[in-house]
Amino acid sequence: MRFHVITFGCQMNVGDSDWLSRSLLALGWERVPAAEADVVVVNTCSVRKKPEEKVYSLLGRLRDMMQGRPGTFVAVGGCLAQQVGADFFGRFPHVRLVFGTDATASVPQALARLAAEPRLRLSLLDFSEEYAPRERPDLAGGGQVVPDQAFVTIMQGCDNFCAYCIVPHVRGRQKSRAAADVLAECREWLGAGASELTLLGQNVNSYGQDAAGDGTSFAELLYRVAELPGLRRLRFTTSHPKDIAPEVIRAFAELPVLAPHLHLPLQSGSDRILALMGRKYDRARYLEIVAALREARPELTLSTDLIVGFPTETEEEFGETLSVVEEVGFESSFFFLYNDRPGVRSVKIEPKVSEAVKTRRLLELQALQDGLTEKAYAALVGTETEIMYVGRSRVDRDAEGSALAEGLTSWAGRDAWGRVVNVAVSGDADLTGAFARVKIEKAKKHSLTATQLGATWSK
Ligand code: SAM
Ligand code: SF4
Ligand code: F3S
Repeated sequence: MRFHVITFGCQMNVGDSDWLSRSLLALGWERVPAAEADVVVVNTCSVRKKPEEKVYSLLGRLRDMMQGRPGTFVAVGGCLAQQVGADFFGRFPHVRLVFGTDATASVPQALARLAAEPRLRLSLLDFSEEYAPRERPDLAGGGQVVPDQAFVTIMQGCDNFCAYCIVPHVRGRQKSRAAADVLAECREWLGAGASELTLLGQNVNSYGQDAAGDGTSFAELLYRVAELPGLRRLRFTTSHPKDIAPEVIRAFAELPVLAPHLHLPLQSGSDRILALMGRKYDRARYLEIVAALREARPELTLSTDLIVGFPTETEEEFGETLSVVEEVGFESSFFFLYNDRPGVRSVKIEPKVSEAVKTRRLLELQALQDGLTEKAYAALVGTETEIMYVGRSRVDRDAEGSALAEGLTSWAGRDAWGRVVNVAVSGDADLTGAFARVKIEKAKKHSLTATQLGATWSK
């Protein structure tokens, strides 16, 4: 069988899709472009309207593409699949499997069954009480490349029910994965050659605090992962401010392997809006956490998520968001226009903010953040840092902005903070995964240009 996987949404979905691809490859399936596939798996997101619309238009294109190719079909999985369920079958006859977020583990068997029984349709939409154990496929099986940066899911679902958010409705209650299982997967990635690990969950700070947990706290898990041989950088996402424990803050001081960057979603700078959102922290508490983190690790940088135009948000309250963004000095931020999502509490909160006002506020926030990012990047010019090359760069310019001289190729690397650093290097060797010391020469809006100092080295 030939398959193709298309993924929308967050890292959790990327992690699920990666597991699925590896499992199918280990079973002897072949990964091919969508136009040649017997089955196309679409892993969906429903956090906002836009990713939902993208899925519908993709399914339409796949229907056209599959016409005249009998036996080919589509499997729709992930958060929108959980939300819409078997209704997909009525709208899209080429969809033969709909699977929810807790069913990923049984998808390889379901696909094999559908391939053998061409009249069958299956929907796997039940939530389970525990983190459904998944077989760990051979990471290098089927000739697969082991990435230098690997993602390890440590929990499923979310219990927070923030007023605007569909995630708990489509991913179910929080279920932590047993620490021994997490550690075993981390060891396997490191043993296979990965050097960077990112621990994933909707709210990693409450890892272990649920019926499925084995009593290990998130801080304990961090300390145990940090000890694993072969690990050069450890990251985690996402972190809810209300649950960040003092021990996790201390880990930033005590664990050098922990990357000096944290994504800490703020959502709004107004106490009234934060209360309406059900976030369970206020502006002062958020700033207190930031101060404690910076005391633990002075070079720490922060990024955040912000929702613009939550129902009833006034101009003054939006101004409070601008002022916290400035006060914290985020190095980058993700902004989202508020969307009503089916079944969430904020649908009933009125009045809504008009699209025009939301868009204007978003642009204002964007301009503020661009200025902050520019300032932070400009301050790095002249400094030296270590990067890991992640791939060929799209920028074909040297540090002075001139076209590259013959014999030079441009590579993109990431520093410990996750910033993109472009470097012109001589030769055309594959540097993916190699480390280098570089000197930052120039700062651009979203990237840095550097020159390499000395030779590269590997893990
Ligand atoms: N669990 C994470 C957290 O607590 O921040 C991330 C949740 S969600 C996958 C990613 C981001 O989408 C959220 O941080 C929020 O800013 C945004 N988001 C969620 N629901 C939204 C909605 N209804 N409208 C606009 N943005 C939304
Ligand atoms: Fe959504 Fe809130 Fe859970 Fe994050 S913590 S996934 S924003 S409900
Ligand atoms: Fe989207 Fe589901 Fe992630 S709704 S953002 S794919 S948890």
